[in-house]
Amino acid sequence: MSFLDRIAAAVTPAASDEQRAEARRKVLALSQGEQWLGMIVEQHQRIEGLFAEARSATDVETRQRSVKALATELTGHATAEEAVVYPIVAEDSGKTHAGMAYEEHAMTKIQLAKLERIDPMSEEWSEKLEHIRGAVEQHIYQEEDSWLPDLVEKTSPAKKQLLNQRYAEEYQRYCG
Ligand SMILES: [Fe+2]
Ligand SMILES: [Fe+2]
Repeated sequence: MSFLDRIAAAVTPAASDEQRAEARRKVLALSQGEQWLGMIVEQHQRIEGLFAEARSATDVETRQRSVKALATELTGHATAEEAVVYPIVAEDSGKTHAGMAYEEHAMTKIQLAKLERIDPMSEEWSEKLEHIRGAVEQHIYQEEDSWLPDLVEKTSPAKKQLLNQRYAEEYQRYCG
């Protein structure tokens, strides 16, 4: 069983489209007045758009370019979450949640690096992209449905202030 399958199995059943849409609706409402959360959800939406672009690309150049753009956005987003958000998830949502979150990022990075080395016009490329997309979709759902709402509820105003400031700083360092 691959790492991604193992992760997917650990959180079975994967969220349905309806569950993900509901989690998105709620987290968008929660992000009013929570600047850090607004930035995170906006980046999730950008990541979804980049997956859609890569999926619909039909030639080598567009596929390579879209995967590069996707990898850059994913890395900037993941780096900022890992440096700033997940340590607070460990404190205010739970160490298990933070551990899963870090592991899912690590596995995504491994799979993305593999994708970069696969012939973009092969069946294997499309399958790998779909595999990563499914895993990232589920990861985003976990964040939006529980780990991040936990922070909205439990994290102190001082730590939220830190999130606002430091999240933007870390993301900009890579994607600015
Ligand atoms: Fe994440
Ligand atoms: Fe995220």
